[in-house]
Amino acid sequence: MEPPHDRAPDDRPFVYVNMIETLDGHVALDGRSNALGDAADLESLLELRSVADAVLIGTGTLRAEGYARLVGSDERRARRRALGLAGDPVAVLISRRFDIPWETGLFAAPEQPVLIYTAVDGEAPAVTAPVEVVVLPGLTPATALADLRRRGVRSLLCEGGPTLNRTLFADGLVDELFITLAPLLTGDDAEPSLIAGGRLPQPVDLQLASARQVGSELFLRYAVATHRRPVPTAA
Ligand SMILES: NC(=O)c1ccc[n+]([C@@H]2O[C@H](COP(=O)([O-])OP(=O)(O)OC[C@H]3O[C@@H](n4cnc5c(N)ncnc54)[C@H](OP(=O)(O)O)[C@@H]3O)[C@@H](O)[C@H]2O)c1
Repeated sequence: MEPPHDRAPDDRPFVYVNMIETLDGHVALDGRSNALGDAADLESLLELRSVADAVLIGTGTLRAEGYARLVGSDERRARRRALGLAGDPVAVLISRRFDIPWETGLFAAPEQPVLIYTAVDGEAPAVTAPVEVVVLPGLTPATALADLRRRGVRSLLCEGGPTLNRTLFADGLVDELFITLAPLLTGDDAEPSLIAGGRLPQPVDLQLASARQVGSELFLRYAVATHRRPVPTAA
């Protein structure tokens, strides 16, 4: 992927969301997403991380998936530096309640900077990762993204999950959506789709920018459209 930081609007970073889903539209199996993808999907995710100034992770996702240092390979960090990016992207969390899973691997990585936006006064416990807590009264994703932009973050990869995705799409804060379609059916209605927490105020139209096949997986890239698609009417 070409580095997206030149495409940032003035008031927030360029935001691209990456998710994997089954063909019947579920984003987790037994509460986690790792069983859905294969090596090609992991490679795709790591490449998307390689061009991001920062990576936004939902706190529910962090709790479910654990995480570690976001860019683990020297080679990828060198490529990031060659693009003018920091070797390690900043991990960003947004939690109005300051409900953070401190026990997860993200906080055990000494090289992994973490920036936490919250609406209530909170202090990070002693963890290995360097953590900064930013208290924004009346916190919304838009106010957090505006602060990120002021700090020089121009490109932000969001790795879900569905609850966080919903507020980002509802608030018009997403520029692109990367979807891996996993060749899998689960029929598990207990697992959410890409968006959880209720119907969006407006349907979001997407324009397919590219489609790539690797084995039986499909890698789809969509731009969020600025206008609604006309609905055809019978003549
Ligand atoms: N297939 C995939 O690619 C993929 C990717 C990611 C996750 N997942 C799966 O998704 C599941 C986790 O997703 P999730 O939906 O439970 O959690 P999530 O979206 O990762 O995080 C939800 C949290 O975001 C915080 N948040 C901050 N601002 C918010 C706002 N304005 N509106 C709503 N929430 C806001 C809330 O915490 P506060 O209330 O403290 O603000 C909320 O608890 C796991 O099963 C994981 O495996 C799958």
